[in-house]
Amino acid sequence: MPEAIVALGEGKRIVGRLRFESDGRRQHSQFEYDAAWLAAEDRFALAPGLPLREGSHFSSGKDDKRSALPGCFADAAPDSWGRALMTKALGGGLSEFDYLVLSDDRTRQGALRFLGEDMEPLSDLTPPIPRLVELERLRTLAQRFERDPSGAEEEARDLAGVAGSLGGARPKANVEGDGHLWIAKFTSAQDTKPVERAEVATLKLARMCGLRVADARLELRDSDSPIALIRRFDRRGDTRIPYISARTALDWQGEEGGFYTDIAEVIRQISSKPVEDLHELWRRIVFTILVSNKDDHLKNHGFIYAGGDRWRLSPAFDINPSPSRHRVLETGIIQGGSFDASLEIALEACEFFDVKRDKARQIAHDVATTLSGNWRRAMQEEGMTGDEARLYQDAFEHSECARALGM
Ligand SMILES: Nc1ncnc2c1ncn2[C@@H]1O[C@H](COP(=O)(O)OP(=O)(O)OP(=O)(O)O)[C@@H](O)[C@H]1O
Ligand SMILES: [Mg+2]
Repeated sequence: MPEAIVALGEGKRIVGRLRFESDGRRQHSQFEYDAAWLAAEDRFALAPGLPLREGSHFSSGKDDKRSALPGCFADAAPDSWGRALMTKALGGGLSEFDYLVLSDDRTRQGALRFLGEDMEPLSDLTPPIPRLVELERLRTLAQRFERDPSGAEEEARDLAGVAGSLGGARPKANVEGDGHLWIAKFTSAQDTKPVERAEVATLKLARMCGLRVADARLELRDSDSPIALIRRFDRRGDTRIPYISARTALDWQGEEGGFYTDIAEVIRQISSKPVEDLHELWRRIVFTILVSNKDDHLKNHGFIYAGGDRWRLSPAFDINPSPSRHRVLETGIIQGGSFDASLEIALEACEFFDVKRDKARQIAHDVATTLSGNWRRAMQEEGMTGDEARLYQDAFEHSECARALGM
């Protein structure tokens, strides 16, 4: 039975042991906290669904392979982009455990580490972390792999380690520069719009609208496939900061979308600054509606560890305006309610987020005013032409926006 010592941070603090079993069709795992961790003064539960106690926590992947691991470990494993690279580089037949422990240890999401009995990382994909000056080379490798995955074994081998460790579907790599770790998000071969210019512009707009946002800037701006550089918020110098997705914080199983009021409930339970996080989340809902971000699923929200068994809502990331007639969210606003991207519903929900009605209207009005006054310029500042910016007009100018401006 494959197993790993689970440790935290640069100091490899042992927190427990993960055992994994696969009988072909079914995969399951068993995690047990270490006795010394359970007794430690600075202990904390790796996730709300993995409470501190003796004995085994079982996870079974009968219906959904990914639930073969507890959510906090699944959060540290690659998604479709990284898995495609790893499968090509290492060969097929990889289990959920393989994807988790074999991906690069240094760039893995959060602070979790998966070690062998010798206390060394089990991952065997450990080329040096590329520097910012290597972005162009990485972009070429990623493009070749995207265009023809079957013919790009060598590219996959080069990329699978540090480029394949993070979650998400878009092509990306980790890079080091200016003393920080960054995610480089590449323009995809499938993009029909300047997606990465829009992503950087939108994160900058989010900051202007008062949100806490990951630092972002555009690289290779003058080329036709620019790269969005997003600073990793789960690193502080060499320190690794534990991270869980909102999906894990909610202990959410299955494929259907969750709800923002459920995230609010979790914030009340685990946040070190619940009121600030509730206000922040409500403003994010408003921003998401007003920029027509449709990709607000539960893995695009998360929490970073704040010490003392408390968490903070992580900085906002992966917010992308996508003009479309169907204005729906992936995360519904009110538990059990509709998934419409509706400001009316957001206002109805404001008290769940500790925001008073009048204040809520004021916030919606302010966010809409900032967006309508700045979105086009923000896009052009990231190098879009007037015609390219116009492709995003319907994402920023729509009925909800008009409603907010009228408040
Ligand atoms: N600034 C950041 N710091 C640390 N981790 C991050 C940061 N931004 C994103 N992540 C993590 O990396 C994952 C992938 O990033 P991101 O969501 O931007 O990629 P994506 O491929 O666009 O995702 P999706 O599949 O949702 O479109 C996120 O789910 C999150 O766990
Ligand atoms: Mg994402």
